[in-house]
Amino acid sequence: MIRSVIRGTGHYLPARIVPNAEFAATLDTSDEWIVSRSGIERRHFAAKGEFTSDLATHAARAALENAGIAASEIDAVIVATSTPDYTFPAVATQVQAGLGITRGFAFDIQAVCAGFVFALANATGLIAAGQANRVLVIGAETFSRIMDWTDRSTCVLFGDGAGAVVLEGHPGTGANTDRGVLSCDLNSDGQYRELLYVDGGVSRNGQAGMLRMQGREVFRHAVEKLAATAHAALEKAGLSTDQIDWVVPHQANLRIIRGTAQKLGLPLEKVIVTVQDHGNTSAASIPLALSVANAQGRFKPGDLILTEAIGGGLSWGAVVLRW
Ligand code: UT7
Repeated sequence: MIRSVIRGTGHYLPARIVPNAEFAATLDTSDEWIVSRSGIERRHFAAKGEFTSDLATHAARAALENAGIAASEIDAVIVATSTPDYTFPAVATQVQAGLGITRGFAFDIQAVCAGFVFALANATGLIAAGQANRVLVIGAETFSRIMDWTDRSTCVLFGDGAGAVVLEGHPGTGANTDRGVLSCDLNSDGQYRELLYVDGGVSRNGQAGMLRMQGREVFRHAVEKLAATAHAALEKAGLSTDQIDWVVPHQANLRIIRGTAQKLGLPLEKVIVTVQDHGNTSAASIPLALSVANAQGRFKPGDLILTEAIGGGLSWGAVVLRW
């Protein structure tokens, strides 16, 4: 069988760093509230004229360099995003053009904060089916463009950024000792749309809209659903939580990250946490965290990594992979 192995990682963060204190100047909020409720200390915002495709292209270049693979060797580009440059074409085609790739195929996936997990699972399926052998999987967002700056309950939580991985098909034995993606578990339940959505869209009103969230309700679902999807993915791979070396969770809220780790019985030392520096970058958060941790040399060959995410939809899922 063919396994999807991560050959390289990369990320990009816009230059402008916005500390919590900046919000306290215009809103009834404080650094103390934001840090204690979310763990977020700062986030990056894209510059005027800097778009999701720019962030994604920078991250993709970094991942290709890290992998030692030329852009011309890429068969497919998948971008997970909810904040595309245009309604169409897909951001992935802009990235493809930016990298000078003129063959293969490119498309976007929209599963909000779970987007990267969904994209990784889809790329793995394409590789297993022989549709592509080297796939750039990117999470890229400019959530600063869909913030309601008068809503203190949401605008302090999100940030902009991009992360990318180069996936490559390698022969595996089928055993869970193989390198690469070992299992995926994807879920959605559309009855929860109103908990987290953007109040605009092409078909609705022809506008981009702004993010609306019932944070407390999303929180209530998060820990329980993330732990359940993690267990489901591990079970599919025939593995248990005590075999995990690293958790790379979606970075929405430190309390959710801690709560999920606790529910899984995993010590925090095994959890990659970047939310303090990036805020919630939606589909970009997992590949960003993967790339930051990889650059720090934290992953060793053979390490078992669990990624998990939940977001608007609701959509949630987990991927288990061996480094
Ligand atoms: O990535 C996609 C998934 N999204 C998430 O995972 C987000 C999930 N939710 C959360 O992370 C948390 O629910 C929040 C960080 C959004 C909020 O934390 P919370 O502990 O659930 O707070 P809360 O919503 O229950 O609000 C507590 C209080 C409220 O005041 P009252 O009603 O108790 O008087 C809010 O109005 O905090 C108030 N509040 C704020 N106060 C200062 C809300 N936002 C702010 C703010 N500064 N920025």
